[in-house]
Amino acid sequence: MPNLLSVQEVDVTSFNELCNSAEAYRTGVPETTPIDTTQQGGLLFFESSTRTRIGFGTAAWQLGVRTVSIYETKVNENMSAAESLPDTIRTLNPYVTFFCIRHPNEGVFDEVVPYTSHPVINAGNGSREHPTQALIDGYTLQHRFGRLEGLSITMLGALRYSRAARSLLKLLAKFNGVNVTGFTEPQLNFTEAEVAAFTKNGNTYQATDNHAWGSEQVVYSAGFPPVTPAGKFSQEVRNRYAITLRTVNRMNEGAIILNPLPRIDEVSKEVDDTPQAHYFAQNELGLFMRKAILARYALKP
Ligand code: CP
Repeated sequence: MPNLLSVQEVDVTSFNELCNSAEAYRTGVPETTPIDTTQQGGLLFFESSTRTRIGFGTAAWQLGVRTVSIYETKVNENMSAAESLPDTIRTLNPYVTFFCIRHPNEGVFDEVVPYTSHPVINAGNGSREHPTQALIDGYTLQHRFGRLEGLSITMLGALRYSRAARSLLKLLAKFNGVNVTGFTEPQLNFTEAEVAAFTKNGNTYQATDNHAWGSEQVVYSAGFPPVTPAGKFSQEVRNRYAITLRTVNRMNEGAIILNPLPRIDEVSKEVDDTPQAHYFAQNELGLFMRKAILARYALKP
């Protein structure tokens, strides 16, 4: 079975099939192909996670498959020396039938893939990629609008350092007529190469640090970590890109606000009760997409 290391590996046909499969799980369509429930997943999280870790554990459990997990252990502390990742993979390889891995190093899969023949799912590697989150975000758009083509999306926050935003831009690049506005500080915008890849087939991208709200259908709040490799940003700067009730009042009335969560202060809590707030619905859809991802990439019938 194939690995899922980058959302680049997911073409439009596969994305549509994943969305259909997620919809079947959401609406309770019975399985046509039973899953071999003797399989077992290894969830290896070397960085904190609530949604992705618990989400894949729950998705596997609902599909009748067990998981074992490592959570934020040896790379950090409590051992005289950290075990190498290849040794961890080689140790667990006989016990599991697939891996789901989050790690702070962008190049982590070079240390994983050579040591296992099992499918590997990327649950987030540094600030580079978060393909399963992008699939959840894409499914949320498909669920809400029935399409990704032609959507007008404002993305804000530390885009350059948000693996969720970077993977979503890569996924959106596969569709036509998508219009993205990057609303952030110039040094936190996507890279020129990322923008060029997104626009090469006719999508449009504009960057601004002074956004005129009103025409967007989707507002993607990517978050704003207190420290990034570009430096530390003041609360004043963070506030400039936070979504408040005042922002919501200036948005297109039918717009939806997405956020991969966790939400820190990039969307104020008073926004939660507005019709535009869609981030907890997005999180709810995540379980069905994670089941679809496991069924497609990790589990044999
Ligand atoms: N969206 C997301 O990746 O959340 P977690 O960090 O809680 O997994």
